[in-house]
Amino acid sequence: MLDLAGVNEKDVVYDLGCGDGRIVLAAARRGARGVGVDIDLQRIHEAQDNARRAGLGRRVSFLRASFFDVDLRRATVVTLYLLPGINIKLRPKLLFELRPGARVVSNNFDMKEWPADEQLVIYHRTLHKWIIPAWVQGVWSCYIARPNGRRRHMVLELHRRFQQVSGSAQLNGRRLYLVEGRIEADRLSFTLWHPQHLLPAIRFRCAVVGDQLRGTCHADSPGADAATWAWGGVRRS
Ligand SMILES: C[S@@+](CC[C@H](N)C(=O)[O-])C[C@H]1O[C@@H](n2cnc3c(N)ncnc32)[C@H](O)[C@@H]1O
Repeated sequence: MLDLAGVNEKDVVYDLGCGDGRIVLAAARRGARGVGVDIDLQRIHEAQDNARRAGLGRRVSFLRASFFDVDLRRATVVTLYLLPGINIKLRPKLLFELRPGARVVSNNFDMKEWPADEQLVIYHRTLHKWIIPAWVQGVWSCYIARPNGRRRHMVLELHRRFQQVSGSAQLNGRRLYLVEGRIEADRLSFTLWHPQHLLPAIRFRCAVVGDQLRGTCHADSPGADAATWAWGGVRRS
């Protein structure tokens, strides 16, 4: 699980339902910081004893709590070995509290409509990994910088469902539709096209940095100008 998440010394790994602490201790052996959460006090005592015996007590902590009540904002990696129904109940908390780019790895159980970004079958088990997407949904006031120095204004409305992005844009008084929209961590990409092809399709790529978008775009039609233009935006709502 830790290999799939790519855990290293910069990570803060939360194991939700940590049992005897083995995942948290394995993360600490890689130099990461670890936090284990379990509702069962006896498991927490076992985990603390195991940490002491391994000499890793300073890199890890164990909390007796329900993981639904624990603030996950510090975590860069979350590991789960729970039940399918619990994974589904945790979905909104993971998507809301974890920062873009944080990784979630689940032993055996998936997240139903939230497709994994990567899977690994090992010892007859499937491990699933998700990368938390940036919060891109909303209305963005954007510009496209033309090579002649002129800027075109564009209003972009984005909707997100897990890693899939849909929406539309208003450019030059025309409504364009968004296809092939995808967000991975803070990297957003999509194509805008006009249903009657009155404008060439345009492919956009950008980074989402808080309430700003910054990237490049280019015409995506055969025979169109191959130039790349800078574009960006700020959140309106
Ligand atoms: C299958 S064990 C996983 C142990 C460890 N993560 C591992 O992979 O070896 C699941 C653990 O989740 C804990 N658990 C179940 N529901 C919980 C909840 N709501 N809050 C905290 N812990 C919970 C159980 O007490 C149990 O120790």
